[in-house]
Amino acid sequence: MASGNSVPALGPNQALWEKGDFGAIAAFMRESGAALVAALQLAPPLRALDLGCGDGTTALPLAQAGADVTGIDISRSLVAAGRSRAAAAGLERLRFEHGDACCLTGVPDHAFDLTLSVFGAMFAPQPFAVASEMVRVTRSGGRIVMGNWIPNDPTFVSELLRISSAFTAPPPVGFISPMTWGVESQVRERFGRAGVPPEKIACTRETFRFLSAQRTPSDFIRLFETYYGPTMNAVDAARAQGREHDLHRQLIDLANAHNRAPNGGTDIAATFLKVTVWL
Ligand SMILES: C[S@@+](CC[C@H](N)C(=O)[O-])C[C@H]1O[C@@H](n2cnc3c(N)ncnc32)[C@H](O)[C@@H]1O
Repeated sequence: MASGNSVPALGPNQALWEKGDFGAIAAFMRESGAALVAALQLAPPLRALDLGCGDGTTALPLAQAGADVTGIDISRSLVAAGRSRAAAAGLERLRFEHGDACCLTGVPDHAFDLTLSVFGAMFAPQPFAVASEMVRVTRSGGRIVMGNWIPNDPTFVSELLRISSAFTAPPPVGFISPMTWGVESQVRERFGRAGVPPEKIACTRETFRFLSAQRTPSDFIRLFETYYGPTMNAVDAARAQGREHDLHRQLIDLANAHNRAPNGGTDIAATFLKVTVWL
């Protein structure tokens, strides 16, 4: 507990996601987030947890589909942004809370019918604890659904993270890459250790599209450089090496190469691993 006016130091995980403003990127994700929720074919009444929910890209459509939704995120600014979006949409059965996917303090066992995490819990630093917590808070007969980026995949996000990490210092010893959540064997090991039998786990490769009718791929990259913690860190490191322009060029080329939108918009696809766990 902090005393006096001292402010507790942020862990690196929280600091990374409070450094920028993921909401700026999430603006390109609303349509695909809603489609992902629609594909879940929900049958309310349903209690849903959205873990690593950001500002509510999937939490809002979950609530609009009739679920009672709790969104939990490590970034206090994104929790505040989610609350504003929920209030603006008049969604009274959608709550946003600050919390850590590694340790869901205060969340009772078996509290949810559905635990969803779309490119969220994969970024928490202790993957075995995350799997164990997701299983703990989901009821028997319920399901867990994760969307996880895939390492060494040739599509946009994996490539963006690969380029960004080439400019930054190697991670500390013991660091487990978030991208390991995109490897089926690792997913199975994590949920297996949390007590889930192999036949209850399914992994499929699916496509997520980043979409904007008005904004160009260059605008999109500028948003990553300005607001997305991992890319912001790469920009800082590239600047210190005098290679900022090199990084920028590589990212712009990447986005242009993957863009399929005509007339100056953005339509960039990225492959992800969809993990479904039946409890
Ligand atoms: C790439 S963003 C995705 C946000 C949202 N799910 C979406 O699809 O727009 C990753 C999110 O995970 C959150 N996050 C990272 N580590 C976390 C942790 N340990 N516990 C909870 N949330 C975390 C970040 O703050 C961020 O909102």
